[in-house]
Amino acid sequence: MSGRQKVIIDTDPGQDDAVAILLALASPELDVLGITAVAGNVPLRLTEKNARKICELAGKPETKVFSGAARPLVRPLVTAEEVHGKTGLDGPNLPEPTMPLQTQHAVDFIIETLMTEEPGTVTLCPLGPLTNIALALIREPRIAPRVKQIVLMGGGFFEGGNVTPAAEFNIYVDPHAADVVLKAGIPTVVMPLDVTHKALTTARRVAAFRELGTRVGIATAEMLEFFERFDESKYGTDGGPLHDPCVIAYLLKPQLFKGRECNVVVETASELTMGMTVIDWWGVTKRPRNAMVMRDIDHDGFFELLVERLGRL
Ligand code: BDR
Ligand code: CA
Repeated sequence: MSGRQKVIIDTDPGQDDAVAILLALASPELDVLGITAVAGNVPLRLTEKNARKICELAGKPETKVFSGAARPLVRPLVTAEEVHGKTGLDGPNLPEPTMPLQTQHAVDFIIETLMTEEPGTVTLCPLGPLTNIALALIREPRIAPRVKQIVLMGGGFFEGGNVTPAAEFNIYVDPHAADVVLKAGIPTVVMPLDVTHKALTTARRVAAFRELGTRVGIATAEMLEFFERFDESKYGTDGGPLHDPCVIAYLLKPQLFKGRECNVVVETASELTMGMTVIDWWGVTKRPRNAMVMRDIDHDGFFELLVERLGRL
């Protein structure tokens, strides 16, 4: 048995999801047991295909990719083609994948893995709406105490939302699933917009990926150049926030991030603030602390790690 951290990446690629997957597949400390696709940035048939495209780009076609939920638990699916393009991975010209999609459903894979691996050894890394994770918890509640930890990208507090003034995309798309996950009693680390908005794909940083001179480096630069244009015009910044790789970077180098244990509750009733993560940063309620919420990132260290690791592929 290896001493590598076992992870399941649950994802809706998405260029930033793609960079997160590349970072994980490039990192010997991680054992990627499987990648589970969910509907989010684009519909499921595209997210599962994009996940396979990225495994092939990484030169890891043996990676297991599973297809999961095609829509959120309660609300209709909201997608983000305006950010990610029609394919979800606009930018580079990546070939159609030839590696197979696994026949097992993503939710069954998550349950089976957690029920068979040693308890406390598998980390879940959700990078999209939390539908697959919530469905697994609803279907087999015995998995909850067996999860080592959840490290997820989602939410925002001082930074507000990015899809409504109150809500961040991943939580907004399936607030009911986020509610299930945050109430499951699993050790959880939250990477909100407050962190990811500090991890900007500046021109200099994108150039560093391109200068790797490899297929992965050039494709990453092309993905980021497409992905950042939406947020650059929205926020007036040099570069856009590179959200999802923060999750994987935390597993590799937790010292890049700073935060505190807080109570986090998701709004699921008010249409105005639907999907808002109500984070008790100042401890003004007596509600129990259910998540480690990050607020700061060493963004230079983060991009150094990314370039060094992607350079290995
Ligand atoms: C999140 O939403 C998606 O568009 C990104 O992939 C990221 O997971 C940021 O709000
Ligand atoms: Ca995502």
